[in-house]
Amino acid sequence: MKGAFELMPVVLVVDDGAANRELIRMYLSTIDCEVRLAADGVTALEMIENDPPDLVLLDVRMPRMDGYEVCRRIKAMPRGRLLPVVMITGLSQTAHRVAALEAGADDFMAKPVEGAELIARVRSALRLKELYNTLDGAEHVIFSLATAVEAKDSFTERHTQRVGESARLLGQRLGLPETTLDTLYRGGIIHDIGKIGVSDSILHKPGPLDAIEVPQMQAHVAIGESIVRPLHSTLGLLPIIRHHHEHFDGGGYPDGLRAREIPRMARIVSVCDAFDALVNDRPYRTRRSTEEALAVLRAGAGTQWDPETVDLLVSELPTIQHLGAA
Ligand SMILES: [Fe+2]
Repeated sequence: MKGAFELMPVVLVVDDGAANRELIRMYLSTIDCEVRLAADGVTALEMIENDPPDLVLLDVRMPRMDGYEVCRRIKAMPRGRLLPVVMITGLSQTAHRVAALEAGADDFMAKPVEGAELIARVRSALRLKELYNTLDGAEHVIFSLATAVEAKDSFTERHTQRVGESARLLGQRLGLPETTLDTLYRGGIIHDIGKIGVSDSILHKPGPLDAIEVPQMQAHVAIGESIVRPLHSTLGLLPIIRHHHEHFDGGGYPDGLRAREIPRMARIVSVCDAFDALVNDRPYRTRRSTEEALAVLRAGAGTQWDPETVDLLVSELPTIQHLGAA
């Protein structure tokens, strides 16, 4: 394997049966890869946390923690989305295959494992990971830039992380699909990336902006869009980046969209962004109490913000505060 793998790809085999582990290791000896072995899910999760592999081959029935749960936990890790998991199930019924897919598995195969099939699946999964690595590399630059924006303004430490987490939570409560939740999370983190192009004197001004400064500040949505647009893997984030300052009554920028014309994800991020900004210090004012912040949001519901999203945030407040949003 060449390309996006700097070193030999690593395959982690998780199975409580020593004979199964060794059999798979033997099959994989024909592929140019490093094989690591784990005898249970808890050990596997620790190994993944310490030094992530490029592919996980995961048994279903194991003591301590079954394969479905291990898979769910892998996929919940920050980088787990990009780590392919192939579940190896001794149970061939459709229900078990569905359960594997629901747990987030990328592929599955039945026991007893046949050598040629295993090699083909592993080669295919490693190609997928190679692609992920490329996307991840490009995205990595973008997310590093987003961190640099935070660093420009010490008042907003971890602000975008909290916005991402709370936007994801509200999306979850709305029953949005996993891919949308992922977009909400990443969009929450990255939405203000265009501030990298706004001068520090404007970002840090301890008072209202003047007529010349306002459009310079507002330009951050278009700047952000132009930074992210060339990247295929982040195209889904563009509606959030461009429209997170639209107002529900049409009075926002850059396009004066109103109500449901504003992309739903942008409406969600906008409310989460406002709440977190209100309960934290800003250059131009000190933090508000939670009650004051909610009063501001309620007063602006229907004019600045989507009233349904404001209501949802209010009902989810204890969890959002638990995320460290306040
Ligand atoms: Fe913004």
